[in-house]
Amino acid sequence: MPQLEIVDLRASYGPHTVLERINLSVEKGEIVSLIGPSGSGKSTLLRVLTGLLPPEHGTVRLNGKLVNYADKAAVRALRSEIAIVFQQYNLFQNMTALENVMITPTRIKGWPREQVQEHAISLLTRVGLGHRLKAYPDELSGGQQQRVAIARALALKPNVLFLDEVTAALDPELVTEVLDTVRALASEGITMFIVSHEMSFVREVSSKVVFMAGGHVIETGSPQQLFDAPQEVRTREFVGKILRH
Ligand SMILES: Nc1ncnc2c1ncn2[C@@H]1O[C@H](COP(=O)(O)OP(=O)(O)OP(=O)(O)O)[C@@H](O)[C@H]1O
Ligand SMILES: [Mg+2]
Repeated sequence: MPQLEIVDLRASYGPHTVLERINLSVEKGEIVSLIGPSGSGKSTLLRVLTGLLPPEHGTVRLNGKLVNYADKAAVRALRSEIAIVFQQYNLFQNMTALENVMITPTRIKGWPREQVQEHAISLLTRVGLGHRLKAYPDELSGGQQQRVAIARALALKPNVLFLDEVTAALDPELVTEVLDTVRALASEGITMFIVSHEMSFVREVSSKVVFMAGGHVIETGSPQQLFDAPQEVRTREFVGKILRH
């Protein structure tokens, strides 16, 4: 059974349909990268799947269970199963790294503080910040803040992690440390969707690459298939363009 199964998904912003006929099946532990031109619908797909934008049509199953996006309680429950990290990390400035990671599990979920703290410390250690638990965001570099945001996203023990251009706002020298963190998580078997312009990273880390254009999935395949032997004209054009840069 796929961990996430998307069938014939459609979504719109007002009158503008931005996703259409999206079909995608993802097994547990897969690393799926979404690539495609600006405006092709990559972020929108992640928004729909996390319940930030209700789909108009189609179905999504998580671990075999149909997700009811019209049901607020179901969408709230979904937020602990699918976590999303954006380009803008939006940490609470008045809280330490540790407090940022602990806030949702303790305040919203009411999980026992001691266990949450232990888990938060292990997460911050995993992202290479075990020595900066008490640091406030303004005492951390952009890359470090983004790694706190990734640890925070993992604090609710999600099944699936979405990373939407998490390195796009960072200075080039900070990109590597965040990619190293993502690479380490990928090897731990967490299912991930990654939107990234770092094509060599996408190629190395992905089990599956999905090329989107104009709100459609144009082509899906292994990194080798997509980058070395694309089947569709639009994929070839896109890949040709990005590999020239
Ligand atoms: N909040 C919004 N309201 C209206 N239209 C939107 C909104 N967000 C995105 N869109 C439109 O939806 C389409 C898909 O946008 P989306 O952000 O998903 O693209 P993307 O593939 O993530 O692009 P990028 O690579 O630039 O991040 C675009 O045409 C965009 O203009
Ligand atoms: Mg986007």
